[in-house]
Amino acid sequence: MQQTFYEAVGGAETFRKLTARFYEEVAKDDIVRPLYPEEDLGPAERRMRMFLEQYWGGPHTYSDERGHPRLRMRHHPFKIGPIERDAWLRCMHTAIASIDSGTLDDAHRKALREYMDMAAASMVNSAF
Ligand code: HEM
Repeated sequence: MQQTFYEAVGGAETFRKLTARFYEEVAKDDIVRPLYPEEDLGPAERRMRMFLEQYWGGPHTYSDERGHPRLRMRHHPFKIGPIERDAWLRCMHTAIASIDSGTLDDAHRKALREYMDMAAASMVNSAF
């Protein structure tokens, strides 16, 4: 049977590391951090981790708990312009770069980066 992307990059442990590092970066970011309504980023980190695991062929816990992702709709309350998009992507690219090459080979790293670039662009809901 063919391996999923999720399995090929090391499964739950890799997605845990990726989202943990991403939210470490968010916590330090003066543009992205203020957009998060909650003081505690833990629940947001968990939702992101579950979403990404599901998207890349892992467990479907995200939709079991949250229903259809409808990410654009869920981001509607937050002003996301080019500046917020770029700041978010900086955090995500740093997180992707933090995963070692034994875990994430060049092709998988490229696929992850390209997906994030595309997904972040599709979340933009403000021209400025
Ligand atoms: C939720 C910001 C892009 C996935 C959120 C939240 C904020 C936010 C403020 C609410 C926090 C919370 O859940 O408590 C942003 C900004 C982006 C961005 C500024 C800039 C482009 C993305 C992208 C993805 C994503 C590209 C997916 C690849 C999620 C998920 C949630 C979330 C899964 C939780 C949704 C739920 O409630 O189930 N985001 N986001 N976000 N974001 Fe983003």
